[in-house]
Amino acid sequence: MTVICRMSLAMLLVATLSCRGKMPETATATAPSATTSASTTSTAVTAAQTTTTSPCGFTTTGGGPSQIPPVATSGNIPLYVPLPSVVNSQVQIRPYFDWFSWEEFIALNWPASTKGRGNADQPSNASVFKNAKNGSQTVWGTWKANWELFNQGSTRPSPFDSWDVKIPAQCSAAKPGQRELVMSSKGNTVLNDGVQAFSFPLVDANSNYLLYEVRYNRAAYEFMRGTDANQKSWLYLAKNLSPPTQQTMPMSTAAAAHPGEQDQLGAMMLKAAWRDMTGVPASERNRYYVVEAQVYNPETQQCTAKDVGLVGLHIVQKLQDFPEWVWSTFEQVDVLTSPQHPGLLPACTTTDCSQVHGFANRPQTTTLDPNPANRTPVPAARINAIPTTPPGQSTVDANMMFQQSLAGTVWANYQLVVTQWPFNAGNFKPPENRGTYPCGAGAPFPETGAVNVTMETYFQSANDAVGAGGNSCMSCHYNAALYDFSWGLKRRPHA
Ligand code: HEC
Repeated sequence: MTVICRMSLAMLLVATLSCRGKMPETATATAPSATTSASTTSTAVTAAQTTTTSPCGFTTTGGGPSQIPPVATSGNIPLYVPLPSVVNSQVQIRPYFDWFSWEEFIALNWPASTKGRGNADQPSNASVFKNAKNGSQTVWGTWKANWELFNQGSTRPSPFDSWDVKIPAQCSAAKPGQRELVMSSKGNTVLNDGVQAFSFPLVDANSNYLLYEVRYNRAAYEFMRGTDANQKSWLYLAKNLSPPTQQTMPMSTAAAAHPGEQDQLGAMMLKAAWRDMTGVPASERNRYYVVEAQVYNPETQQCTAKDVGLVGLHIVQKLQDFPEWVWSTFEQVDVLTSPQHPGLLPACTTTDCSQVHGFANRPQTTTLDPNPANRTPVPAARINAIPTTPPGQSTVDANMMFQQSLAGTVWANYQLVVTQWPFNAGNFKPPENRGTYPCGAGAPFPETGAVNVTMETYFQSANDAVGAGGNSCMSCHYNAALYDFSWGLKRRPHA
């Protein structure tokens, strides 16, 4: 059944998607104000007309306009996905989500202003981005780290713009704003920054562990920090989340998508994976975004300065049209070893590694071994290919287009692996209310197989991810749906 409804612009949408006012009403791909590269040579594709009914109760047809919008080199974070006026199928609209992911990536990696936290330096001046030195502080690097919110004991976490946080005395050499990574593996909980979510540490080709960090933007942080006036709004305290009730973070709104709305950035969260750059030759090192970090090891209580290179970046944003968030994940292009470049992880030597699991030699325990000689590097392959549909406008094509546009910056050495989003966003129901994946999560697309090799190395295949919540962002995070899909908010609050 296809329903036609009347909105401010006549739109033809698929059954349950329509009539909710859930989708942007603009037909054109309006990029945030910035310089626009004119290099979109590819043409829109139109797929064959086939009608499919989803188990989640909507129908899709092939066809419809499908084209990656032009690159905008802008420090303004996109606030909506510029969908075409006709939305027929998931694959058709992938290019608009991939464009959105890349524009987020550019804006978040924009050099940060020194005023406050989370602000871009001259967001409309593309040369600020293009000429930034490798290692310059980025906008997302100034967001609040999860330990600034959850690990402050009885101290009230500081306001978003403040750099004033309690850090271990051993890390006192750290300059304000310098990145601190916590190398922790106390027990098998999710609260370990040296260990992957629900899983094991990752050992790279040089026998170093990867390090992970989680950060929140202003809207997400302030939502969890609450207001001074109302102690019950302090959600970093476990008692304020009990009994569990639906948490809803602020969502981004945009006048261009919904006339009458304010342009307002809502909640964003991210998770990054870093490699130790010690021993990486200069020719390879230049291909990574590298910063000096203070690495704190709670077991030895030591803090060590190390050069670390960005290898993986998860970015999520909660949007008015997509309240189950838009999930994007990037990797540095040398994560897997290629004939041209020694990778972060060695190549697989067995088909079991290269085709079944995507890894071999997974560590036996979650405990981090201080002696590199006792660690075995983890060979890896990508089990879920970077999407090649729709043809000519796929994620692979978006990567070529954006990398070309970013040539000369270190960011041209990064690639979008996948964007996952709720196609039937109006249909949210958390597991606690008898919702089930995928329909209760808003019918995510792709439904499975959306992971990052640096962060969900051991959950690439559906089989290996059984019991962990599945091999995709949204299936796993759906188990934290009551906490607005934030595993951190579900697991980290303290007494
Ligand atoms: C197997 C489960 C699983 C999968 C798959 C997974 N995550 Fe997560 N993710 C977690 C857990 C657990 C945490 C919390 C870690 C912590 O608090 O340190 C987390 C943290 C995050 C955070 C930090 C914010 C928060 O509190 O949740 C972001 C952002 C994120 N993941 C994005 C993604 C994206 C994007 C994907 C898919 C490409 C993905 N995740 C796949 C389990 C998963």
